[in-house]
Amino acid sequence: YMKRRKRWNNYPPGPVSLPFIGNLLQINFQCPHVLSVKFGKIFSLQVGWKNVVLLNGLDAVKEALVQRSDDFADRPPFSLFDHLGYKKNCEGIMMARYGHGWKELRRFTLSTLRNFGLGKKSLDQRVTEEAGCLCSAFSSKDGHPFNPRFLINSAVGNVMCSLTFGNRFEYSNEKFLRMLHLIEEAFNIGAGIMSQVTLNMMPWLLYIPGPQHNIFQPYTDSFDILREIVKEHKETRDPAFTRDFIDAFLEEIEKAKMDPGSTFNENNLIFTVFDLFGAATETTTVTLCWALLYMLRYPDVQRRVSPRIPHSGCPCVFHEEIDKVIGRDRSPEIEDQVNLPYTNAVVYETQRYCDVVFAGVPRTTCRDTEVQGFFIPKDTIIIAVLSSVLKDETVWEKPHQFYPEHFLDADGQFVKREAFLPFSAGRRMCLGEQLARKELFLFFTTLLQHFTFHIPEDQPRPREDGHYILIHSPDSYELCAIPR
Ligand code: HEM
Repeated sequence: YMKRRKRWNNYPPGPVSLPFIGNLLQINFQCPHVLSVKFGKIFSLQVGWKNVVLLNGLDAVKEALVQRSDDFADRPPFSLFDHLGYKKNCEGIMMARYGHGWKELRRFTLSTLRNFGLGKKSLDQRVTEEAGCLCSAFSSKDGHPFNPRFLINSAVGNVMCSLTFGNRFEYSNEKFLRMLHLIEEAFNIGAGIMSQVTLNMMPWLLYIPGPQHNIFQPYTDSFDILREIVKEHKETRDPAFTRDFIDAFLEEIEKAKMDPGSTFNENNLIFTVFDLFGAATETTTVTLCWALLYMLRYPDVQRRVSPRIPHSGCPCVFHEEIDKVIGRDRSPEIEDQVNLPYTNAVVYETQRYCDVVFAGVPRTTCRDTEVQGFFIPKDTIIIAVLSSVLKDETVWEKPHQFYPEHFLDADGQFVKREAFLPFSAGRRMCLGEQLARKELFLFFTTLLQHFTFHIPEDQPRPREDGHYILIHSPDSYELCAIPR
């Protein structure tokens, strides 16, 4: 390894590594980017035998992911998934290698989600309807303290169910709860140190007996549930009428019947639906949990969005937005977004500040390339640290504070910012950005239209540091939702 590094001129600097394990013991897995203080914005690590380069700050991340989009569009091989039966043209979307199969599937998924339209209801209608169900569930708590995570997760999961399976479930439906639970468990395992580092760096562990094999169970159980749902779809499908994502995928499988190399096959349908659930539910749920947590911590902001909390002496009646623009008699719609600049800024600032996918999803270089003058060879694992962009001190006025004004101009109008990259950028950027945006805005606005949120009397102010395991989640907290 030392030889290799020496051969490369201009390879990014990094700490000295030990034989076999590299820098494994020096990495703080919760904040792998803290080493940037010592080595600069672009630095390297060795993890096991793999070369890893971390990119920090808007300039480096944009140069790599946007300007050299093609060079950085691959994902590293992930042995956990090989053992689950992933192979060429059958590897879902999220971890698929960069190539024809991924391209075809991504294009299909994007256009299918966009066209919903499909079937009976538009995407907006589905989200609005679910927001209403979420409000009813909050109401049923009668102002008593509760942890909002479970209900939010059910609502977000239901939007995905509606798109992929064609129907939503009651929040108490056992099959639904089991599926959400398994997906969360699989997600946590995939994100855990055991699979991220140990199994990928030491895949031979999978050839000897031991507890490491338990990690496959939530995946295989989830696949079984999805397989059953696909079977039901095949039995009840009417080719003249596409009900949902699964129907649309089954149509493609039929069209590609004669092509054994097609990416449209039944296993890939299962893996793709699993990916969509995995990518969509945790991220959106956690962001909404942060949004409500910030409303508890910053009642002045909550009041500006929805002004029912009595003023604490501050005379500003600026932005009594939701009441003024929407009132009480109708549900918020996505078209209201342009007339709710402050509320919109609060949602954007929530995403910036909570920093959910703080280290992005790993990429890998598919050819020799460079960033900011550093040489980066083919097959290097790339971590584009999104956190370092969302909190870049050279860009944001108050990077380490919750400050919705980041997204407002002097006239109180909404402004987009270049360094707002919670969905990453380039070829592999989040495929669900549009859907996530709709959900965040409609769920948040509908909740604040109906409730004032308080910290329960005997409980401390919830903390805003949370914990980092692949995604940045708040520690569990409770709130009281008082109807307005
Ligand atoms: C990928 C963030 C919601 C589907 C990603 C990536 C990020 C991200 C950072 C990695 C992109 C990269 O490698 O550069 C988020 C956040 C969300 C969210 C913050 C919500 C607040 C969703 C939703 C869906 C979704 C609702 C479902 C439709 C995906 C998929 C990928 C992805 C399929 C993999 C794309 C690929 O590799 O081509 N997301 N996401 N995400 N996301 Fe999201």
